[in-house]
Amino acid sequence: MCSLSATLLAGALLCLAAPAVAARSPGRTFSVLSFGAAADGVTDDSEALVAAWEVACRVPRATVLLPSGHRFLVSPVTLQGPCNTKLTLQIDGTMLAPPEMGSWPKSRRPLQWLNFKWLQGFSIQGAGTVDGQSISLRSADPPANTSQGSARDWYASGVKPTLIRFYNSFNVTVRNIRITNSPQCHLKFDSSGGIKVKNITISSPGDSPNTDGIHLQNTRDVEIRSSSIGCGDDCVSIQTGCSNIHMKNIICNPGHGISVGGLGRDNSLACVSDVIAESINVQNALYGVRIKIWQGGVGSVRNITFSNIRVANVATPIAIDQFYCDRGRARCANRTGAVAITGVTYRRVVGTYSFQPVRLACSDARPCTGVSLVDVRLSPSPEPASAQQGPLCWNTYGEARGTVEPLGTGCLQRSNGYVTPLTQPFNYTC
Ligand SMILES: *[C@@H]1O[C@H](CO)[C@@H](O)[C@H](O)[C@H]1NC(C)=O
Ligand SMILES: *[C@@H]1O[C@H](CO)[C@@H](O)[C@H](O)[C@H]1NC(C)=O
Ligand SMILES: *[C@@H]1O[C@H](CO)[C@@H](O)[C@H](O)[C@H]1NC(C)=O
Ligand SMILES: *[C@@H]1O[C@H](CO)[C@@H](O)[C@H](O)[C@H]1NC(C)=O
Ligand SMILES: *[C@@H]1O[C@H](CO)[C@@H](O)[C@H](O)[C@H]1NC(C)=O
Repeated sequence: MCSLSATLLAGALLCLAAPAVAARSPGRTFSVLSFGAAADGVTDDSEALVAAWEVACRVPRATVLLPSGHRFLVSPVTLQGPCNTKLTLQIDGTMLAPPEMGSWPKSRRPLQWLNFKWLQGFSIQGAGTVDGQSISLRSADPPANTSQGSARDWYASGVKPTLIRFYNSFNVTVRNIRITNSPQCHLKFDSSGGIKVKNITISSPGDSPNTDGIHLQNTRDVEIRSSSIGCGDDCVSIQTGCSNIHMKNIICNPGHGISVGGLGRDNSLACVSDVIAESINVQNALYGVRIKIWQGGVGSVRNITFSNIRVANVATPIAIDQFYCDRGRARCANRTGAVAITGVTYRRVVGTYSFQPVRLACSDARPCTGVSLVDVRLSPSPEPASAQQGPLCWNTYGEARGTVEPLGTGCLQRSNGYVTPLTQPFNYTC
């Protein structure tokens, strides 16, 4: 067997030079400590990480190890493939982003901290923590007197880095690790597929702006399960180009719930289909399960099922908003088109709300169709917000079955041959 010690790179190349040996070994481990990591949480260990990665990338079933009991400060890096089969990043220690990376000057600010791309059959696992160190996010807050709308503009203009981002990667698993204190989104998959996220913990304060838990775009065949997410924005955010997304056994506390959208911004095309969210527990959140659509877009959202959703102290547990505008409604122009919504099922949604139990606000030009509410039981929180509102259905067609409280009859409109939802020719393909 070849061993890697001081002459690491040379050693690894020797290993590769003996392919019979490399193929037989059940998986070789490349600890970043052997590649010169200081592991003191202060010295920048990104060179050691990249060096270990580059060697492991060429070896089948290799593992890059960040051992437990150590802290690794890493500046923004790209870890890219293509690599040999079944590469694993084993995080048992703590990985630290440079402190306050989110408030670096714009010119130096990366779009993401750990940037994984062009990988196939790759895993991240371990009992360790990935810490974005954005502990005083609010010190970088906009001036206190801006409205909520302009505060959001401020954040939008000063884009903060995503902590972990996968681009163009397939058959990727992320499990067991803890991801915390991101300056922005915690874990993002873009233009990827065959994704499994399992048994992870994401935690950031509820008042940290724009800190989505898991963000998916242009990504298909995703399974997210048995995970706990607490953050200051959507716990899971599903954007355009996503299909076959399955979420199960997820806790969202605090956060803005499980969200499809916002879609169709600036008259864009958006397509999302085949989403199941089941056994989801949402607490202390703005929304439970939500679909948000800007006015004016084209495309569709179809075949979405939310089942066994438990909510506690959630402002609005069930929401469809086809008039979405994150700058305050008055600042978004009214338009006639919208991304169409069809086939949305809410089955067994139970618990307490603090503001409005159900809000289904669909567009006049593109009403929502095929909306089912089955066994929905929502009651006011023990200590309700002062101004609660009753349920709202606007241009929403479908049916309610079983117990549906407190919707009352006639909230959903039935398309029974007399009242049919307005449909328009679709000038796009999803
Ligand atoms: C889930 O992750 C935690 C933390 O890494 C670990 O201790 C536990 O064993 C994992 N559970 C399973 C079922 O893998
Ligand atoms: C602060 O509030 C004042 C008065 O409402 C307003 O004129 C000013 O534009 C606000 N400042 C900012 C940065 O929004
Ligand atoms: C992903 O995994 C599946 C099943 O394990 C396999 O059929 C497929 O070829 C893999 N795709 C890629 C791009 O590695
Ligand atoms: C709806 O989506 C689910 C989950 O992806 C899928 O299993 C099912 O076949 C889809 N149903 C239709 C009618 O497309
Ligand atoms: C859009 O239409 C709504 C309802 O008719 C109206 O209240 C609102 O002021 C309009 N918004 C703009 C920006 O014109």
